[in-house]
Amino acid sequence: MESTHRSPVQDRRLRFWNDIVYNLMAPVYNSLDWLTFGAWWRLVRRALDYVPAGVNVLEVAFGPGKLHEALARRAGSLAGIDLAKGMCRYTHRRIERAGLRSLIARASVYEMPYPDGEFDTVVSTFAFSGFPDGPAAMAEMIRVVRPGGRIVIVDIGLPRDGNRAGTFWARLWERFGDFLYDVPAIMESGGLTVTTFEEYGPGNHIRAVVGEKPG
Ligand SMILES: C[S@@+](CC[C@H](N)C(=O)[O-])C[C@H]1O[C@@H](n2cnc3c(N)ncnc32)[C@H](O)[C@@H]1O
Repeated sequence: MESTHRSPVQDRRLRFWNDIVYNLMAPVYNSLDWLTFGAWWRLVRRALDYVPAGVNVLEVAFGPGKLHEALARRAGSLAGIDLAKGMCRYTHRRIERAGLRSLIARASVYEMPYPDGEFDTVVSTFAFSGFPDGPAAMAEMIRVVRPGGRIVIVDIGLPRDGNRAGTFWARLWERFGDFLYDVPAIMESGGLTVTTFEEYGPGNHIRAVVGEKPG
């Protein structure tokens, strides 16, 4: 069963990730890519399959910005938010050095500085499971996407077939403070139509979920 249960221990772990790792260690987080011989990026970049070229994109919680850079090459226009100052600085520099453009803001997913219906596509990778209030985060993402637009979430979850390897990996992330949300159910209760649910990665514990906002 997917869980939204939070314990005080889990809250403490989450604060550790947000205040220390994400804020101070953008370059270290960025090196996950070569530390894992490119495996991390192979999991993340799957999101690009679901982001149409040439549209107005928002990336939520871009982290050290590797996907953000790829989105900047592909999108018609791009904006991004992240809560950690260190990540914002790092990604801003990365985009500038590559000669690309993005409107980067330090903001929380729960309160984004955009009017309703501003974006064609909202994308977020490996961040949703770290948001303590998944339904509120989703509601805010739905607010800023236009009718007929889409939300793309790539993240961990329990594999639907319950296989042991995938369940092991998902539960391991949960021990580090992540929440194993039922993302399709949260999208549907926010009024989206789920058009894609694709499991992949070790034991199929990663999923790409696409929800479309009725036009
Ligand atoms: C695991 S990292 C994911 C980074 C990147 N998207 C990736 O796929 O590697 C989670 C990111 O979420 C950001 N974050 C955490 N809480 C947030 C919030 N409430 N609003 C916006 N960003 C948040 C963190 O600062 C961090 O950069």
